Amino acid sequence: MDYRIVTGRDTANLKDLQDEIVVPAWPEFMMHDGCVNKYWNELHRRYAEYQFVLREEGSQRVLAVGNSMPLVWDGDLEDLPDEGLDWALKSCFENLTHEKKHHTQCAFQIVVAPDLLGTGFSYEVVKLMMNIGRERGLDRLIAPVRPNMKSRYPLTPMESYIGWQREDGLPFDGWMRVHTRLGAETVKVCSKSMLIEGTVADWQKWTGMKFFESGQYIVPGALVPIEIDSEADKGTYIEPNVWMAHRL
Ligand SMILES: CC(C)(COP(=O)(O)OP(=O)(O)OC[C@H]1O[C@@H](n2cnc3c(N)ncnc32)[C@H](O)[C@@H]1OP(=O)(O)O)[C@@H](O)C(=O)NCCC(=O)NCCS
Repeated sequence: MDYRIVTGRDTANLKDLQDEIVVPAWPEFMMHDGCVNKYWNELHRRYAEYQFVLREEGSQRVLAVGNSMPLVWDGDLEDLPDEGLDWALKSCFENLTHEKKHHTQCAFQIVVAPDLLGTGFSYEVVKLMMNIGRERGLDRLIAPVRPNMKSRYPLTPMESYIGWQREDGLPFDGWMRVHTRLGAETVKVCSKSMLIEGTVADWQKWTGMKFFESGQYIVPGALVPIEIDSEADKGTYIEPNVWMAHRL
């Protein structure tokens, strides 16, 4: 595959380029994490060199997207918080003013173009993301990984799911397998990695479903059921992810 890496330092419209494949890749509700939306523009502005696309030479189409951030964090992996991705974003920006040294890179997302799914290209993209942190002297890449086959098993607790293995001892989940093959350690579940809230009408719009009464509902693309509270006119999705960590 003939491509070049383009970061936010190389072009002013990186976000638009990323959206070409990011927006279709995610179920609509995933675009409504309050914390992500609060920091998204700032992430691109402040840490442009950590945001990239891979563009095919010639056609210029976007083959893959990577987003990550540097953290002032050098704690024990076991102490990584339950709030996963939302914690990483907050911590990245709350520490900004202190001008402390960054130690750790944290992955935000990787997306591969639809026609390249299942081809193993994601290995390449993880390696390129790790190079960004390595070149800046960071020690490790931590990732609140969203296991990409978990949405098929929304009723299975994440703690059980991440222990599922194939006969060769590698994780059952394809995306966890990519990280494991590249040397990552599976640390633990972060049970509240993303928080997505909306009114019942919002959730009906996002999912194309009708929610007539309070209760738990399985919605396409979600890793666990969402909770609808009709009286409070509120729907809540708390996404669990799994902390994985690579040495850089
Ligand atoms: C996550 C993502 C980048 C992984 O890339 P991918 O193209 O699906 O996976 P790859 O082909 O690189 O390989 C991953 C493994 O999963 C397997 N796999 C991929 N799709 C699969 C499927 N639909 N069913 C079963 N296994 C699958 C591959 O065979 C491969 O296994 P192997 O290494 O043992 O051969 C891609 O699925 C994606 O862009 N998803 C949408 C966004 C997303 O979820 N990003 C991750 C969270 S931020």
